[in-house]
Amino acid sequence: MSVHSSTRTQVAIVGGGPAGLMLSHLLHIAGIESVVVDNRTVEQIETTHRAGILERDSVRLLVDSGASDRVLTDGHEHGGISLRFGGVSHRIDFQKLTGASVWLYPQTEVFVDLHRARTRDGGDLRYGILDTEVTGVLDSPVVTYTDAAGARHEIAADLVVGADGSRSVCRDLVENARQYYREYPFAWFGVMVQAPPSAPELIYTRAAQGFALISQRTDTLQRMYFQCDPNEDPAQWSDDRIWDQLHSRLAGSDGFRLQDGPVLERTVLPFRSFVQSPMRHGRLLLAGDAAHTVPPTGAKGLNLALADVRVLAEVIERAIDKGDGDALDSYTERALSRVWKAQHFSYWMTTMLHRVSGATDFDEQRQLGELQTLISSNAGSTYLAEGYTGWPHH
Ligand code: PHB
Repeated sequence: MSVHSSTRTQVAIVGGGPAGLMLSHLLHIAGIESVVVDNRTVEQIETTHRAGILERDSVRLLVDSGASDRVLTDGHEHGGISLRFGGVSHRIDFQKLTGASVWLYPQTEVFVDLHRARTRDGGDLRYGILDTEVTGVLDSPVVTYTDAAGARHEIAADLVVGADGSRSVCRDLVENARQYYREYPFAWFGVMVQAPPSAPELIYTRAAQGFALISQRTDTLQRMYFQCDPNEDPAQWSDDRIWDQLHSRLAGSDGFRLQDGPVLERTVLPFRSFVQSPMRHGRLLLAGDAAHTVPPTGAKGLNLALADVRVLAEVIERAIDKGDGDALDSYTERALSRVWKAQHFSYWMTTMLHRVSGATDFDEQRQLGELQTLISSNAGSTYLAEGYTGWPHH
């Protein structure tokens, strides 16, 4: 098929989710041109529910870069979370322990803000395309794709960034990469429900039946999750069956009442830990879920992606504007040092709160002992608070 259009740019970005758009936005501020391509439509991305917690420095990045002021007006500042076990909630006070907060602001809103900012600034964004291919990553990268009308296009670039998510195609172009995996014998059943909020902050619950998380969205919409079998079919779950699970896991002696209502959406979320290293191969660099995924306990995924692209924008600027050829070499190490801390944090939060089938009485009591230590120790609570609110961006 003949090529219908040919574009030259400095950075071609494959993937127009929050990572790709934030990178494009930061590069624009640095005076570097980019083109973003994504095989999803804007509408598809805007309607896919993802996690909702932003670390302190993620919020700062969104605000200080001019990408979002809505996060401060429409988002909700949370100065802590509740850990619930043995039927009683215990608050971890982030503000008191670390002076930091997190913000409840769903990823879909982050996407809307970034998309608006790039559109406002005249960004070249191409959504709803097909058959994306990346070639020449060692010397002269080219991204080719087919548009919705069937015409073939090509984008030649100095660098190409794979911000194409957990099913990344760019990832596979990194030769001799090492991949680190951990699978878990469970998943999360996620629901969007029509109900008033049950609490002002998130509740992470460990119950004999398994984990549950009560999160929020608006005054009338709430987001909740409970641990389930990875092969669970959401269609088999009636509202009553879902509420039985949630109510029994949140039951307790402290008077807490879970507010219920119609279940508007139900999905089973994949659950695994994954890292690919290095994050660079020649003129290709990976960012966000394309290079690493974390289990959702602790909501680190989006925050890690934003931290990646912040480092990436800086090294790209040094490489392109200042001719610093070594700058790109530092990317993998700088990004992965945060990634592995977040891998540990997400794994730790997960194993501390989930039930593994085959667990012995000893295992159960030890898990409760860990939670008890955490809430009764200033050092333990501070450790959780530091990890949850996020390690400072450098
Ligand atoms: C969410 O609100 O979707 C959410 C919050 C915290 C998590 C995961 C998901 O750890």
